[in-house]
Amino acid sequence: MKLGIIDMEMATTHFQVKLDTLAAALNVDPNKYRYGLRQEAFSMPALDEDPVTLAATAANRLLQRTGREGIRTMIVATETGIDQSKALGLFVQTLLELSSNMRIIETKQACYSATASLQMALGIVARKPEERVLVIASDVARYAVDTPGEPTQGAGAVAMLVGADPQLLEIEPASGVWSAHIDDFWRPNDSSTPMVDGARSLDAYLGAFTGAWEDYLAQGGSPIEEIDYFVHHQPFTKMAIKGHRRLVEHTGAAIDEQRVEPSLSYTPQLGNTYTASLYMGLLSLLHSDLDLTGKRIGLYSYGSGAAGEFFTMVPQPGYQKLLHPEIIAAAIADREELSFAEYRRLHAAHERGSKQDYTNPRVTGAPYRFAGVRDGARYYQHNEPQAATGAFSVLR
Ligand code: CAA
Repeated sequence: MKLGIIDMEMATTHFQVKLDTLAAALNVDPNKYRYGLRQEAFSMPALDEDPVTLAATAANRLLQRTGREGIRTMIVATETGIDQSKALGLFVQTLLELSSNMRIIETKQACYSATASLQMALGIVARKPEERVLVIASDVARYAVDTPGEPTQGAGAVAMLVGADPQLLEIEPASGVWSAHIDDFWRPNDSSTPMVDGARSLDAYLGAFTGAWEDYLAQGGSPIEEIDYFVHHQPFTKMAIKGHRRLVEHTGAAIDEQRVEPSLSYTPQLGNTYTASLYMGLLSLLHSDLDLTGKRIGLYSYGSGAAGEFFTMVPQPGYQKLLHPEIIAAAIADREELSFAEYRRLHAAHERGSKQDYTNPRVTGAPYRFAGVRDGARYYQHNEPQAATGAFSVLR
């Protein structure tokens, strides 16, 4: 029995910041961002957007196509969750009016946890093939201003429905894992931005890659020559190229960079989407002109701290019929551009605690919005016109 991804969809934010704008304001050569990082812009949430609204929007787009039948589990992967205790998926469940007969959890291991969530979902559907599992990766990658990470910010979500006899992608059983305690990138509980040791984070990404690759081979994985295309975690686009070069160097295989390039169309525009980033890369590859039917795609998932996993997927016959590249094209193109001053004001305005009540201005055009905080609890709204004049929809 084949197991894998039945369908997938994405969402991003209302605003974007162009890196040429950032470079001009910071007096940096724009070529450093354009060619050094291979980034052109990043997504930036409005005050009424957050990882919940992104996750709900992506899942809503997905479920409109797949329906909800058989979904009894939702796993939301995020490293920018909105509560230390309550799973983000519970907010999504309410917004999407999903069944109460569901198990809902949140997973965390930096950018890696969506991949661990997929593996957990496969375990559930292997045991009960009549069930389907909703896996969502959702993050707002926010770095402190005036740090090297600032141009690599971003935000977005990818929702995936996992099940038996998948029409989109089979996930093959072999998988290589690697982990170690490394202080390369982390975010203490009382900080809204991460601590980053940039050079160490690059080394950790590359070291976890070869570690996961060797384990993949030891677990009976395919030889590199039998992997047709590659998608690597994209904290910034150039990092995926660096990862690929390391794999080529490590294996001695003559695998040219055209095998990874088709996965690099969306991250230059979105920026780092943390847990969703690898899967934005997968969407980019699927949306390319290539006929990938029956081809083997190798995916390298990395999360700082650090954990890596290498595994493979195979697009199924007729998979192209399930693709909707126009959705991501519109999501990228429709973002409103911020000036440098507007961006910095918004960045500062996102720094809010939960000790005081507030109401967010109505900005996002997405179907769901983060309305504000009352008595320490977050409130969300459907963004339909009739809700515009209504009171908060109370979700507790
Ligand atoms: N024209 C063209 N290229 C230029 C240039 C110019 N004028 N000036 C500099 N460059 C190039 C540099 O040569 C360099 O390229 P190479 O690495 O290919 O040599 C590149 O631009 C970056 O410049 P620096 O080496 O000076 O690095 P920086 O100080 O700008 O920092 C960074 C880069 C460490 C990645 C920083 O953006 C950062 O801290 N990012 C956040 C951490 C991160 O993303 N780490 C990646 C691995 S961790 C991970 O994957 C998990 C995750 O999602 C965070």
